[in-house]
Amino acid sequence: MKTAIIYKSYHRMNTEKVAKAMAEAVGATMVKVEDARIDDLSAYDLIGFGSGIYAGRPHRSLFTLVEKIDSMKKKAFIFSTSGKPKEEYHRLLREQLKAKGCQIVGEFQCQGQSGLLGFTFANRGHPDEKDLQDARAFIKGLVSG
Ligand SMILES: Cc1cc2nc3c(=O)[nH]c(=O)nc-3n(C[C@H](O)[C@H](O)[C@H](O)COP(=O)(O)O)c2cc1C
Repeated sequence: MKTAIIYKSYHRMNTEKVAKAMAEAVGATMVKVEDARIDDLSAYDLIGFGSGIYAGRPHRSLFTLVEKIDSMKKKAFIFSTSGKPKEEYHRLLREQLKAKGCQIVGEFQCQGQSGLLGFTFANRGHPDEKDLQDARAFIKGLVSG
């Protein structure tokens, strides 16, 4: 299954680590959201959208990209790193992707260390090797299933 992983990561590059682990596990193409071109997406069977969580949601650049898509009847997954993972963080992006015709086949979240007081203590060192292993297992499950 030809897979692309589009992501935004800027705070501590936590999400980029997860994106890289996933991409290497299944030979997927990693694309920074700034470099993503809608026309190129048609070449893929499965598209992942990943981001750090900033003020309760993925980065706005992912929403801006998805807004530009007319319709995309493809399999998609969402992943994120955050101080304190919550299912709610994916809701808006999930709804937006579904509205474009995507079938959400999975979601993955793990902790990402932040420089923000309050989030810093619980998530120091994340994503750690266990998080990255979980990320690899997650995407292998999607690609083989
Ligand atoms: C401006 C800002 C806002 C954040 N807001 C949240 C939040 O609402 N909830 C949360 O759990 N973590 C929050 N965090 C922590 C980040 O989600 C976490 O550090 C994430 O791993 C950053 O991803 P990145 O290194 O890929 O950019 C925030 C971090 C920043 C810098």
